[in-house]
Amino acid sequence: MHIAMIGTGYVGLVSGACFADFGHQVTCVDKDEGKIAALLRGEIPIFEPGLDVLVATNVKAGRLKFTTDLTAPVAEADAVFIAVGTPSRRGDGHADLSYVYAAAREIAAVVQGFTVVITKSTVPVGTGDEVERLIREANPSADVAVASNPEFLREGAAIRDFKFPDRIVVGTMDERARKVLGDIYRPLSLNQAPLMFTGRRTAEMIKYAANAFLATKITFINEIADLSEKVGANVQEVARGIGLDNRIGTKFLHAGPGFGGSCFPKDTKALVKIALDHDVHLRIVEAVLAVNDNRKRAMARKVSSAYGGSLRGKTVAVLGLTFKPDTDDMRDAPSIPLVTGLLDMGAKVRAHDPVGMEMARRELPDIEYSDDPYLCARGADALVVVTEWAQYRALDLERLKNELAHPVVVDLRNVYRPEDMAAHGFIYDSIGRPP
Ligand code: UGA
Repeated sequence: MHIAMIGTGYVGLVSGACFADFGHQVTCVDKDEGKIAALLRGEIPIFEPGLDVLVATNVKAGRLKFTTDLTAPVAEADAVFIAVGTPSRRGDGHADLSYVYAAAREIAAVVQGFTVVITKSTVPVGTGDEVERLIREANPSADVAVASNPEFLREGAAIRDFKFPDRIVVGTMDERARKVLGDIYRPLSLNQAPLMFTGRRTAEMIKYAANAFLATKITFINEIADLSEKVGANVQEVARGIGLDNRIGTKFLHAGPGFGGSCFPKDTKALVKIALDHDVHLRIVEAVLAVNDNRKRAMARKVSSAYGGSLRGKTVAVLGLTFKPDTDDMRDAPSIPLVTGLLDMGAKVRAHDPVGMEMARRELPDIEYSDDPYLCARGADALVVVTEWAQYRALDLERLKNELAHPVVVDLRNVYRPEDMAAHGFIYDSIGRPP
């Protein structure tokens, strides 16, 4: 199959590289000349474990190409995936579809022969209809079918998620399009991944409903964590105790500082807006958003109460800035409201992150950065773990304690065991667990 992938963000680049790895001929297209030039030099613009090797292997094999011009790749493609960004629109929280529609118009101008145009970006229900209308308006003789194929991969585990998905959702009623997408995903049938065909609007809805449900699951356990702290229960055991019920499932029940990232906050907001446009109040999702925003802001107060007094003039060491481990992504990271809250309280902040510090500097320019977690802790009055990078689990606790001026540790990811922390003499606070 010949595939054109429009957009080389997370989803586009990972999907393009994985499709090439399946044996398809893939050209990734992006308007950003700097990004394409970097990719042509073999540099990967995002941090994603394993992606550099996957890209290099497939470029070398001649299956993966990069360009800024979509004309030739679209003309020869059997399938054109639209994987451009759909950021939150300033002001109203709706998904900004201008990049998707611009891509549709450009595709329409150069498409040749039967081509399936597929939206892979997360798009509101009905976007596929509009993409189809735009293409037909721009090029009435185009022989295209428009399908929706949402992506469910997680940053930091993107390649594994792409190659071993729980399911693949393809939304189109067009038989020819179903065949093309069935062929594209055939290699995954070896991994027993179910390919689910639905209508286009249903596929678009599945993506939003999945993200909203996962965000709800996290927010639910976060509230149970708050209550567990008050009543002396252990939220990790509660999560396991409920999660072993197959109807609930153990995943996405890790209590923490609130969800962040490029998807859950943006997609839940967009879903609420879509619903309101249709006179539907998604009260649960609205509550999830409000609870999560409050929670992120409340984390700075958790640090000051663990310290036991005002943080004015005190130094707080922050370990982990990205919204989750194994990424350099800072979008909607819980560290941002936390650090801002600490600065508002008059504290000085010194932070460490294994890969996210360059990105973090743009969001949080007014803090000190340290290349080493122990140096970050040196002389600090309190230390907060915000992102559960594996290297923080392995820190030498005795050494860490000796670095700190006050042995206060607030662990927002439950990385350490309370009994170990007590044994080392820390004043330790975590999420939803007895001290
Ligand atoms: C999420 C979904 O998990 C993917 O299925 C989806 O494809 C993606 O959004 C998307 O729409 O593109 P991602 O944002 O990369 O993926 O990362 P997650 O692992 O889902 O984490 C999101 C946030 O939730 C992070 O801040 C994480 O720390 C938090 N989280 C996750 C928890 O607090 N507890 C959990 O149990 C799980």
